[in-house]
Amino acid sequence: MPRSILFVASEGLPFIKTGGLADVVGSLPKQLAKKGHDVRVVLPLYSKVIEKYYDCLKRIGTIDVWYGDHKQPATYYQTEVDSVVYYFIEHQGFYERDRLYGYDDDGERFAFFQKALLDMIAYIDWWPNIIHSNDWQCGMIPLLSKVCYQDHRYHDIKHIFTIHNLAFQGNFGLEMLEGCLGIPNDYYYDGSVKFDSGISFMKAGIVFADKITTVSPTYSHEILTETFGEKMDSVLRYRQDDLSGIVNGIDTELWNPKTDKLIYKNYSLRNYVSGKRENKKKLQKMLGLEVNENVCLIGLVSRLTNQKGIYFITEKLQEIMNLDVQFVVLGTGEYHAEDALTWMENNYKGKAVYYRGYNEELAHQIYAGCDIFLMPSIYEPCGIGQLIAMHYGALPLVRETGGLKDTVTPYNEYTGEGNGFSFGPARSDDMLYTLKYAVSTFYNQKVGLKGLIKAAMNTDVSWEQSANIYETLYYTLCNWPDN
Ligand code: ADP
Ligand code: GLC
Repeated sequence: MPRSILFVASEGLPFIKTGGLADVVGSLPKQLAKKGHDVRVVLPLYSKVIEKYYDCLKRIGTIDVWYGDHKQPATYYQTEVDSVVYYFIEHQGFYERDRLYGYDDDGERFAFFQKALLDMIAYIDWWPNIIHSNDWQCGMIPLLSKVCYQDHRYHDIKHIFTIHNLAFQGNFGLEMLEGCLGIPNDYYYDGSVKFDSGISFMKAGIVFADKITTVSPTYSHEILTETFGEKMDSVLRYRQDDLSGIVNGIDTELWNPKTDKLIYKNYSLRNYVSGKRENKKKLQKMLGLEVNENVCLIGLVSRLTNQKGIYFITEKLQEIMNLDVQFVVLGTGEYHAEDALTWMENNYKGKAVYYRGYNEELAHQIYAGCDIFLMPSIYEPCGIGQLIAMHYGALPLVRETGGLKDTVTPYNEYTGEGNGFSFGPARSDDMLYTLKYAVSTFYNQKVGLKGLIKAAMNTDVSWEQSANIYETLYYTLCNWPDN
C-alpha cells in the first residue's frame, strides 16, 4: 500500500553534493517513488542550489518560525524530479554561503532547518506517515516533533534515523536546547540528549527515533564497540534491538557505463575490454600521463582524510610508484595528504597525477578508465566509491571494514571467486602487499582477471534489494500489512 515518506537531509543529488550522503538522498527516494510511495525530500536552499536551479523552483510561501525567544522567517520552495517532490528551505543568513558545513554556527543553522521543516508540513498540510532523517543535521527531528507541537498529527508520525557517519555528531553547548530549539532542558538533565558537558544532535536521533538504521550490516555491528563507537556505543547498545544495517545502492541510471555521457566511450559487460581501453587512453592523454593501454592504472576518488586510509597510501608512495603502474588521484582534504600527493605528481611526471578539487566529470572518467580502484578506509560506514567502481569494471581494493567488507569479496585465485581485493589489518604494509598482489594478478592472471571484472560488473549495486528492506522496515514500524 503506498505511503507518504519525508526524507530529510543536509545534501542530496541532483541538487547538491559533497559526499555519499547526497548519492543516497538522490537515489533511494527515487527508488521508493517507483514502488508507488509518495516520497518527498527536504534540503536547505544553499547558494550553489540557487546558482544552478533557482529558475526551476516554485515559491510556496514564507512563515515565521519560532527560533529561541524570537521568530525568523523561512521561505519554502518546491520542484519535482523523477516523481520525487523536493522542498527547499530558504534562510539567506544561514544557507547562502560558500560551503555547506564547517561554520561556527552550524548548530544554529541546522537547528533552524529542522524547526522550519517541521513547521512546513503543517503549512503545506501534507502529513507524512514517516520522517526519514539522515545524520546529525536532522537528529533532533524525532524529539522536536514529539515534544514541541500540540497538534497530534505530529505525534502520529513515525521516525527513522539513519547514521551515515557516526564520527560527525553535532555536539553543542546546552544553551542550544531551549535557546534555539525550544526543547525543555529536562531532556539534558535526564541524560537523554546530554553528551559530554553539552548536547548531541546525533545522540538525540539515536535515543528518540523509532528505528535507527545505518548503511551496512557490518558497520551496524562495529559501532556497538568502543573502537568504532565514537563514544556513542553505549547508547547504541541501549537501542540495539531497533538498530539495523542496510547497505546502500547507487543510482544505476546516473552511473551506467552504457549510457554515461561524461565518459569517452560507452561500454557494457559485452565490450568492456575495448571500452575500458579507450577510456583509459583518453584519460591518460588528458591528464598528461604516458599513453599506454597495457599499464595497470590505479584510481582514487575520495575525501583525503584519515578515515579514508589516505595515510596508508602516502606512507607507501615511493613503493607504489616503483611498481609498474600509473596512479590518478582526485580529491581534497587534509593538508598533509594533499602535500604528499603534490610531491608524488611532481616527482613522477607521466606516471602519477593528483587533481586537487571536486570534479564530477573527472570522477566518472576515472571510474571508467582505471583498472584498480583504491579505497583502503580505516572505517567505512558503507562507501559509494567501490560500488561505482565495480559497476564500471574497475576492481576495488579495500580494507575489510563496514560496507567495504559487505560489498567486496576478495579474489581467490584457486576458486576464481571474488569481485575485488581486500586486506584486514589497518596497516600500510598490508595494503601494499595486497596492492602488489592485485597488480601482479592484472599482469599475470589474464583468465582470473577476466572473471574478476565480470563478477564486479555483475555485482548488484542497485537499490532494488535495499529499498525493499527499507520498505519492510517502514511497514513493520507502522504495523501495516506487507503489501
Ligand atoms: P564519503 O561520503 O564518506 O565521502 P562515499 O564513498 O560514500 O564516501 O561517497 C563519496 C562520493 O563522492 C562518491 O560518489 C565519489 O565518487 C564522490 N567524490 C568524492 N570525492 C570526489 C571528488 N573530489 N570529485 C568528485 N566526486 C567525488
Ligand atoms: C558517509 C559515509 C560513507 C557512506 C555515505 C552514504 O559519508 O562515510 O561510507 O557511503 O555516508 O551513506
